[in-house]
Amino acid sequence: MPVVWLCWAVFMAALLLPVPGNADPQLDYVLHCQGCHGADGAGSVDGAPPFAGNLGRFARTEQGRAYLVRVPGVAHAELDDQRLAALLNWLLARFDPAASDFPPFTADEVRAGRQRPLLSVPQARRQVLEHGQP
Ligand code: HEC
Repeated sequence: MPVVWLCWAVFMAALLLPVPGNADPQLDYVLHCQGCHGADGAGSVDGAPPFAGNLGRFARTEQGRAYLVRVPGVAHAELDDQRLAALLNWLLARFDPAASDFPPFTADEVRAGRQRPLLSVPQARRQVLEHGQP
């Protein structure tokens, strides 16, 4: 019987350890973004715009990419730069698949942008869409 208890204790201890391994952008989305953006990326009543038809427009220009990385929900996500880059690339492929003419986000690009989170999102969004400047 003690062996059974030992196995159980080892199993329970293993559950508490952080799981190493590859990033899973879909799971990261569920855990860190879906609560506000919805399973279908359609947006939310508190002002999150739908992803479809929007993400690709931003991902094509330097200013738009900086905007995507600096949006507070992205910049402050509890994910490292590598996982956040993977999540953004997954987001684009999943919710705005028609848009494909842009380079994938890299950890370096994410790191540089998220150090300067946006203070006024609506204003920055308008400026990027109207003038290309965040
Ligand atoms: C607490 C709610 C919340 C969470 C969590 C959240 N967001 Fe957001 N997101 C918003 C809101 C609200 C906006 C609209 C801009 C603003 O007010 O920040 C937004 C805007 C965005 C935009 C800009 C879209 C556009 O068309 O302007 C992107 C991209 C985005 N979020 C991605 C993410 C990602 C990726 C995550 C997870 C890592 C995430 N968000 C987590 C609420 C959230």
